[in-house]
Amino acid sequence: MATKQAEQWKLEQDDSRIAWLTLDRTESSANTLGRQVLEELDQKLAEIEEMRPKAVVIRSGKPGGFIAGADIKEFTEITDRDQAETVIRRSQQIFSRLEDLPMPTIAMIHGFCLGGGLELSLACRYRIASDDPGTRLGLPEVLLGIHPGFGGSVRLPRLIGPLGAMSLMLAGRTVTARSAKKLGLVDYAVAERHLENGARSLAENAPPKRRLPLRERLAALPLAKPWVAKLLRRNVAKKVREDHYPAPYRLIDLWLDFGRDEAANYNAEAASVAELITGETARNLVRVFLLQEQMKSLGRSDASVPQWVHVIGGGTMGGDIANWCALQGMTVTIQDLDPERLGQVVKRAATLFRRKLKQESPVRNALDRLIPDPDGHGVAKADLVIEAIFEDADTKRELYRQIEPRMREDALLASNTSSIPLEELAKALKRPERLLGLHFFNPVAKMQLVEVISGPDTKPEHLQRGAAFVHAIKRLPLPVKGCPGFLVNRILMPYLLEAVTLVEEGVDPAVIDQAATDFGMPMGPVRLADTVGLDICLSVARILANHYPIEVPGKLESMVADKRLGRKSGRGFYDYGSNDKKSSNEGVAVPTEVTDRLILRLLNEVVACWREEIAEDADLLDAGIIFGTGFAPFRGGPMHHITTSGPEQLASRLRELEQNHGSRFTPDAGWEELSSK
Ligand code: NAI
Repeated sequence: MATKQAEQWKLEQDDSRIAWLTLDRTESSANTLGRQVLEELDQKLAEIEEMRPKAVVIRSGKPGGFIAGADIKEFTEITDRDQAETVIRRSQQIFSRLEDLPMPTIAMIHGFCLGGGLELSLACRYRIASDDPGTRLGLPEVLLGIHPGFGGSVRLPRLIGPLGAMSLMLAGRTVTARSAKKLGLVDYAVAERHLENGARSLAENAPPKRRLPLRERLAALPLAKPWVAKLLRRNVAKKVREDHYPAPYRLIDLWLDFGRDEAANYNAEAASVAELITGETARNLVRVFLLQEQMKSLGRSDASVPQWVHVIGGGTMGGDIANWCALQGMTVTIQDLDPERLGQVVKRAATLFRRKLKQESPVRNALDRLIPDPDGHGVAKADLVIEAIFEDADTKRELYRQIEPRMREDALLASNTSSIPLEELAKALKRPERLLGLHFFNPVAKMQLVEVISGPDTKPEHLQRGAAFVHAIKRLPLPVKGCPGFLVNRILMPYLLEAVTLVEEGVDPAVIDQAATDFGMPMGPVRLADTVGLDICLSVARILANHYPIEVPGKLESMVADKRLGRKSGRGFYDYGSNDKKSSNEGVAVPTEVTDRLILRLLNEVVACWREEIAEDADLLDAGIIFGTGFAPFRGGPMHHITTSGPEQLASRLRELEQNHGSRFTPDAGWEELSSK
C-alpha cells in the first residue's frame, strides 16, 4: 500500500502471531494524542480486526516515553461546547474499539504514560510497565482544569477501585511503576530489559483477575457512594474552591452518578469535559501550561551550558542554590567566610538528595558533586560564579574586585541580589559585559522561576547562556530588564505594603489574607510577609522606595525594631507558637475595598512593568508573575486578567481609590494605552 503521508503508527505481526503496534510521532520528540494520531489508530484497529493476531502489544517508538497525553495545543482550537463533545465522543469510540478487540491487548509502558496515554492503556486488557525512575503514570487532567475524557474516569475506578482512582485523578498525581503495580493499575512492573518478554508472556498466559481490596469494594457500593463522595468533596475543598477550580468537583459528581449503563457513563464523561474545556478556568490553565512551555524554550539554545558552578555565600539562598545545582548534575564548589555555614549546607544537601533521589548511590554521587571550598579554589575553574552573599552593594563590589582577576576568561558572573541594580555592581568590574542577575526565589527547590536579569553592559550571548543554565537545572528562565526589584519583587512589594497599611488601620490580618486567597492567591500577603521575613521585606521596601512612589509603613519599621521578624523569630503579624495552625476564615465576610486595595496596587505595578517592557511581552510578564508569585493561575495571569476584566473599569476603580487613599493608587500611564487597545 502506498503511504500518502508519514505514518505515526506502525503495525507488524511477528512469527508467533503477536501484532506490535508502535506509536512514533513524526516531527515530535514525544508522543501525544492529537486527532490525526487517533484517526490513524482507528484505521490500525480496523486492520487488526481483519488480521486477527493472537495478541496486540501497544508500545512507543520513542526511547524515553510512552505517551505524554492529549495534544494540548489542539485544546485551544476548540471553541464551543458541542464541537468539544463531538471530538471527545469520537476519541472515546476509538478507545472502545480497542477495548472490544477479541484478542488480549497489552500496553507496554516505558517513560511517561500520562493523561490520554494512560487512558489508552486502560482500554487495553493488560498493562506492563518498566520500573525505570523515568516511568510515571497518571491522569493529571485536573491541572489543566478538566478531567479524564477518553473513558479514563469510567475505566480507572472500575480497574483499581474508586478510592485509589480518585486519589490519583483529583490531585493529578503521577506514580512510579511499582506504586502502579501496588494500586493494581499495571499487571507487572519489571526492569526495562524484561518488558518485551513480559508482554509476550501476558499475550500467552492471561494473569488471574485481581480482586479489588475490601475497602475499594465497599466504597463502590451504591449505599456507600454518597458518603464517599462527601468525604472526597471535603478533602478537595481544603485545597481548591469550586468556583475557581470546578474540575475535581465535577469528577466526583460524575462518579457518583455512574451506573451500570456504560454507554451512559461515557456520554456523561464527554458532556462534563466538553463543559469544562470551554470554560474560563480550563482555558486559563491551558494558557499557563503553554506559557510554561514558552519559558522552557527560552532556555533551549545552542549556547554552551555551564557545567561547573562556583557559589559564593552559603546562607539561605547560596546553600540552596548550590544544592539544587548539584542535584541536577552540576559540579558545584561552595565558598563561605564562615566554615560552619558550609557544614550546614552539606547537611541540608543530604536531606534534599535523600528526599529527591531516594536510592543510595545517586545520593552519594550528588553529594560527591557538592564540594565545600572555603578558600574559593573553584573561582578559577568554574564556568559560572554565582554570588549570594549579604545584600550590601559595597560588600558585593569588594568581592567582585577580588574574584574577577581569578575567573576564567569565558566564565559568567551572576548575582542573586534581590534589589541592588546591576549597574551599581557592574562598576566594580573590568569586564561588566559578563555580569548578569540570576535571581532565584526562596525556597529554591520549590520555586520554579529564576529571573535572568540583564545589566547595563551584559552581552546578549551571556544572557542566553544564563537562560540555558537555568533550563539545564530544571527551572524556568524569565529574561527581565534590570530595574529596582526586577519584576517579581517590584510587583509584590506594593501589594505586601498595602497589606501592612491595612493592618495599621486596624483590619484583622486574617481578613486581609482571606481577601487574597479568595481572589486565588496561594497565600495571603500578611502570612507571606511573615514567611519571607519582615526584615527582608523592610530592606527590599526601603530600596524600592528610593525609586518608586511607595512609602514604607511605620508598622513594618517598628515590628522589625522590636525583633518581630515573622515566622523565623516565632512572631510577626501572627504568632508561630508550637501550635502554629493556619486559622481558617472560611465564610468571613471580606469587604471589597480590602480586596481592591490589595489587588489593584499589584495590577497597577504590573501595568507599569508592561509599559516599561520589563519582560519581553505581556505573555511573559504573566508567566513570570504566575510562577514567581503564584498569582491565581486560573485567572491566566495579571495582564490576561486585566484584559478580560476591562482595563477601563479597573483604571476607574484605581482613580476612586486614589481619591480616598492618595497617590499610591494613581493609575500608571500604561492603563490609557491598554484601554485604547
Ligand atoms: P544569608 O545571610 O542567609 O547568607 C549570606 C552568606 O554569605 C552568609 O553565610 C555569609 O557568611 C556569607 N558571606 C558574606 N560575605 C561573604 C564573602 N565576602 N565571601 C563569602 N561568603 C560571604 O543571606 P541570603 O538570604 O542567603 O541572601 C543572599 C543573597 O540572596 C542576597 O543578595 C539576597 O538579597 C538574595 N536573595 C535572598 C532571598 C531570601 O529570601 N533570603 C531571595 C532571593 C534573593
